[in-house]
Order: sequence, then C-alpha cells, then structure tokens
Amino acid sequence: MAKFQKITSVKGMEDILPPHSELWQSVEQASRSVFSAYGYKEIRTPIVEKTELFRRGVGETTSIVEKEMYSFVDRGDDSLTLRPEGTASVVRAYIESGSFVSEPIARYYYMGPMFRRERPQKGRQRQFHQIGCEIFGVASPLADAEVVAMTSHLFEEIGCEGLQLEVNSIGCPDCRPSFETALMNFLGKNEAALCDDCKRRMGRNPMRVLDCKNPACRELVERAPRLPDHWCLSCREHFGSVKRALDLVGVKYVLNDRIVRGLDYYMRTAFEFTTTRLGAQSAVAAGGRYDGLVKELGGPAVPGVGFALGMERLALLLEGQEGKSKPEDLVFFAVLGEAAQDAALPIIQTLRRDGVRVEWDYAERSLKSQMRRAAKVAAETVVIIGDEEVARGVAQVRDMRKAAQHEVRIQDLPRHFVQIVG
Ligand code: HAM
Repeated sequence: MAKFQKITSVKGMEDILPPHSELWQSVEQASRSVFSAYGYKEIRTPIVEKTELFRRGVGETTSIVEKEMYSFVDRGDDSLTLRPEGTASVVRAYIESGSFVSEPIARYYYMGPMFRRERPQKGRQRQFHQIGCEIFGVASPLADAEVVAMTSHLFEEIGCEGLQLEVNSIGCPDCRPSFETALMNFLGKNEAALCDDCKRRMGRNPMRVLDCKNPACRELVERAPRLPDHWCLSCREHFGSVKRALDLVGVKYVLNDRIVRGLDYYMRTAFEFTTTRLGAQSAVAAGGRYDGLVKELGGPAVPGVGFALGMERLALLLEGQEGKSKPEDLVFFAVLGEAAQDAALPIIQTLRRDGVRVEWDYAERSLKSQMRRAAKVAAETVVIIGDEEVARGVAQVRDMRKAAQHEVRIQDLPRHFVQIVG
C-alpha cells in the first residue's frame, strides 16, 4: 500500500485544541462583557486587505511592512495582504461605511487572527490572535485614560495577574521633528554601532531605531536623547491629564519614555501591559492614540485611540497561573445494557437541551471502565443505570467528590440536575 506523508500545519501557525480553546472562549466572553460596559460594539473586517492599506497605515519603514507581511498578487493585478494588525482595517471600514457622519463618537471591538512573518518562538507566532478596541472622535485625554483603564479592567476580570502598565507620550507632529533631529544627530555620530536595518532606517525614520531588538542598538539607545525633553506644551498637558485620570480611577502605571511602538500611526499616548514571564515577548497588550490615521487613510480629520491584546501571550500567562480554572459541572452517564440505554437516551437529550453538560460511554463497556472514564473527564456526578435500575425505574446518582450515592427516579433526573446545576 502506498505510504501517505503526513501534512503538518504551517510553521508558526498553531491549532488551538481543547482544553485550550475553552480558556480562549472564556477570555472572549469576558472581553465582550467588559467592552459592552464601556459602550463598544463588535466589528468584523475581512482578513485580507489591499496591501496599500498597511503600507500607508502601519508605515513603510516599520518592520511589519518591510519584512513581515504575507502579501501576494491576486489572480487579477491587486497586491493583497493578510492583515498584520486590526487598527488599519477598522479605520478603513469606519471611513468606507461613512459612520463618522452619523456617529460623532464610534467605538468598535474586534477579535481574530493576524499574520506577521516573524521568527516563531514562545509567545510569537506567524498567525496570532488579537482582541482589540478602537474609539474614534474623542480628542480628550480622558479617552486615552479610559482605553487604558478598560484594558486593565479586562485583565482583572480575566484574572491575569502581575502585569505592569507602562505609559509614555511619543509627541505630535509639532514637537516630534525636534526630537527626531536630535536623535538623528546622535545616531549619525554612532552609526558604526547600529545594525544594518537601523543604518538604513535612521535617515527616514530614526524613531524605529528605538524599537530595534538588536542588542547593540538597544545598548546605544540607552544613551540617546530622550523624548520628554522635546514635548510641546500641548503634549505635556495632554499626557499630564492622562496620568491624572488614571490616578483618579486607581490604575497603577510606570513611566517608560522608551516606548515608541512598532507602528507609525501613533502620536501622544502610547502604552504597553508587560510581563517578565514570557522572555523577550514582554508585551501582552499595547496601544495608544493615532489622531492622524483616519485622515492618512482618506477620511476626515477624526482622532482615534485603541489597544490590542495578544491572545497567545495571555493564554500562556493564564495557563501558568494555578487554581484559576473551574471546570464546569459535568454529569457522566454510566449505562449498562440495552434497556438502560433506551431509558437513558431521552433523559440525556433533555438534560443537554436544558444546558446541562453530559457525557456518556457509547461502547457498552463494564461499569468499572465507565467509572474510570468518568474520573478521567473529571465528572462531578455519575448517573448509573443498569438492568436492575431500569426494572425499578431508578438511577444511582453518585457524587464523585463526596463519594456518596443515592437513588433518584429516572423520570425525575431532568428536574434533579436542572435544580442542582442551574
Ligand atoms: P502591536 O503592539 O503590534 O499593536 O500588537 C498588539 C499585541 O499583539 C502585542 O502586544 C502582542 O501581545 C500581540 N502580538 C503582536 N505580534 C505577535 C506575534 N507575532 N505573536 C503573538 N502575539 C503577537 C497593534 O497591533 C495595534 N494595532 C494595537 C492598537 C490598536 N493600537 C491602537 N489600537
């Protein structure tokens, strides 16, 4: 017989199987409920966009656009790209739908896969998933603080502990050029120490050097000019108000003037929720203000703020925390013989319709092996029905934690479980 070769998934693109998918679902549910409390509604955009959207939106000199995008020429002549992030797509949809006409303030949330061709490692995939939010139409620093506070609230709700919130202001088109000039002078004098990418980028976009992961560049950057020394008065005031609002709502943060973010659209507030538990992939969530982006992508001059969290990184952290996951109640039916099966089937169907989680053994195995299976799937309760039980119209209901057993009439089982579980 011919031997078929196994087909594996694409490098850096992973399946999310149970029980991991259950954790993902609970994070998604918590996100939906937190976002809804702040007035956000879901938006779903296509996974493929015109390449031009990310070139203009994310920025020509970013690592994402320079070397990480999955771009291809469609059967026509269009260059298309698998989205590397969500913000540019949401802005495009916001402009294209004309929502800014009817909604002076629009709030959207999204969740789904993003694609960047990076070198895969722990917490870094080529297909990864983000949950994110964007708010359009509010220039006030209170919007920045609200987005940060909402992200912090979400982590609390999910039970993700030990994250640090780092905030910065990266200036605006008025004051950033002065910083860029100072930075460019400094880099020019130290060019020999830079990696090849940074040597190339420093003339066009010197801020990217601050974001470079190369150890030699990082070391050099330590001595580089600092952004806060170049903030204009409005940026200084804006950032002051963001910090004040965060203090008022009790969100703790540290200042980090080296946050520049890896995407070009940001101005003023930039923030990251970081961890020390994932090695180099320290940012679990990140975001900031991007007032020029809607205009840059062909819309009106509408300000925006947003954030996105990385699901894979969050899941790694949650899986590393102990005692957080509470298994849902599970009822296992140990059914012995055909008559018992006939009696159990309609009851199992009724229970499932009532929202009770039920598993059973289809294979008519011995009671012992069915009980072993019940223990393996961590059932809280086992319902045992054999010939003798069917003859008497009862079932043995065994509480696995207390190792106690009692009889319940078969016809009363739905009421019994809906009362207990529901
Ligand atoms: P970002 O910092 O590029 O921002 O990505 C946000 C989060 O996505 C990161 O903090 C990280 O948790 C996760 N992430 C990024 N790349 C990978 C990867 N290769 N593997 C696993 N996780 C990854 C943005 O994408 C912005 N659109 C966020 C935003 C929304 N800003 C304003 N609104």
